[in-house]
Amino acid sequence: MAAAVAIAVLAVIYRAVNKAPSADMAAGEQLLQILDDGGCAECHTANPEMPFYANWPLAKSLIGKHIEEGYAVFDITPLVEALGNGTVPSEVDLAKVERCLSDGSMPLAQYYLVHWGSSMTGAKKEMVLADVRELRAEYYPNPLAAPEFSNEPVRPVPDSVPYDARKAELGDILYHDTRLSADGTISCATCHGLETAGVDNKRYSEGINGQLGGVNAPTVYNSVFNFVQFWDGRAATLAEQAGGPPLNPVEMGCLSFDEIVARLAQDRDFVRKFNAVYPEGLSQETITDAIGEFEKTLITPDSPFDLYLKGDKSAMTAEQIEGYELFKAYSCATCHAGVNMGGLSYELMGQRDNYFEDREITLKSGLTDGDNGRWAQTGVERDRYRFKTPGLRNIALTWPYYHDGSVATLDEAVKKMARFQSGKKISDSDADKIVSYLDALTGQYQGKTLTNANNPE
Ligand code: HEC
Ligand code: HEC
Ligand code: HEC
Repeated sequence: MAAAVAIAVLAVIYRAVNKAPSADMAAGEQLLQILDDGGCAECHTANPEMPFYANWPLAKSLIGKHIEEGYAVFDITPLVEALGNGTVPSEVDLAKVERCLSDGSMPLAQYYLVHWGSSMTGAKKEMVLADVRELRAEYYPNPLAAPEFSNEPVRPVPDSVPYDARKAELGDILYHDTRLSADGTISCATCHGLETAGVDNKRYSEGINGQLGGVNAPTVYNSVFNFVQFWDGRAATLAEQAGGPPLNPVEMGCLSFDEIVARLAQDRDFVRKFNAVYPEGLSQETITDAIGEFEKTLITPDSPFDLYLKGDKSAMTAEQIEGYELFKAYSCATCHAGVNMGGLSYELMGQRDNYFEDREITLKSGLTDGDNGRWAQTGVERDRYRFKTPGLRNIALTWPYYHDGSVATLDEAVKKMARFQSGKKISDSDADKIVSYLDALTGQYQGKTLTNANNPE
């Protein structure tokens, strides 16, 4: 009791002196100071520096649980470091901070009682929002968007990214070449057909000898915009990624790249063409480099949504425009941010409700290796069930959904996201509008609206 009174007194004193930082500080510095004053780090880092009263009984019971939950959903360390060093902050972190301050969910209200530094005044909140906008404009310039949309958390897909056309031409051939598989039956395009939106529309892909993989195949379209490749992020680049499937025993089943090089070397025409571009000749390095170069061409600009962002107000229907606003209001655009609307961070699947427990009950589907997510690479417990957020470009064409391919329709994918990731109940009508908006994310490949040959319609 005495402790509670003391804390309350401290809180009052502190809030009286806790002024907003000076207005003429640089955006990054200012944001850093407010996050620091706001005590954000105390619930959003691995080893928080606790205030001296944190061990007092009342404070302890309140703070402990919040720290655990807070750190599970958001690690603020990379953002704090970037702001401190003047390096590039993550687009997702900026979107998250913007979202939680504009909807007033952070810092947690209960925290005001126990933490004397956590007062987030109206003036400070406005400063944070302005700082985020300034940092976004500086580090993620958005010249394609109309002025009123230049500071959105989502940016239009560019018309092209720099690539080497001669290498990409070879990569195109190799991408469609079944000689990359042990028995000559499977190419990259078998699972990532360009006429089927870069996916196979199967829950699990079928590799050599009919073997099934353990996670759903993401699309290759726009994968160049992802910060890493694979659900668990085990490949840093597209070229590194392309080294995986040929040697994967359940995908293309080769024992080594030497085997592939030996097969390709018998094709005199191809070798001549290849060596003209890569004088060092065929190897794992050059083959995967060419494929990676080709994948840089697999981008889909000018979806109705992108045309809308570029200023064509009639490109989306009224329902879709409303759907986009709801997409932001339900916090979807925090993880699904940037050009690819995802692909920029690892996120805990089920951060607001237990997804895997629910799946066990509703689908009788127990845990698999694929469910471990990022943990498989790091062995760090916090990374278990954490996945690279998938991009949402062309999402209407790339069913089924989620890493486990367990969700057949977009409607269900949206409703489950609201429940498990955003922690919000969603009405049928809001979900319909968001789905309608997601339909507007189908872009153009080589000037034509992307379609999916598997589409029953
Ligand atoms: C007392 C501990 C505590 C403090 C202090 C705190 N948070 Fe949180 N934060 C949480 C918890 C718990 C959650 C998850 C549950 C919730 O949102 O209610 C969360 C959620 C978040 C999320 C949402 C992540 C997502 O993906 O939905 C962000 C972003 C965030 N906090 C940022 C901040 C910022 C910025 C501050 C400082 C202004 C702050 N937090 C202060 C405990 C805290
Ligand atoms: C047997 C089906 C199959 C074949 C063949 C295959 N893939 Fe994949 N691909 C997948 C699956 C499944 C995943 C997801 C695996 C994971 O994340 O662990 C994937 C992931 C990817 C990704 C990562 C996308 C992202 O968003 O993370 C890229 C890029 C990719 N494949 C390109 C290729 C290329 C290039 C080839 C040929 C060298 C190829 N794939 C061959 C099934 C296949
Ligand atoms: C905290 C981060 C986060 C938030 C918030 C979030 N998502 Fe996701 N989203 C993810 C992750 C991670 C996955 C992959 C989950 C998995 O495969 O198990 C995903 C998957 C999806 C998919 C399926 C993509 C695919 O290719 O399989 C859709 C669709 C989607 N989200 C839409 C939404 C919508 C709509 C909202 C808002 C209601 C939302 N998301 C909120 C992180 C988030």
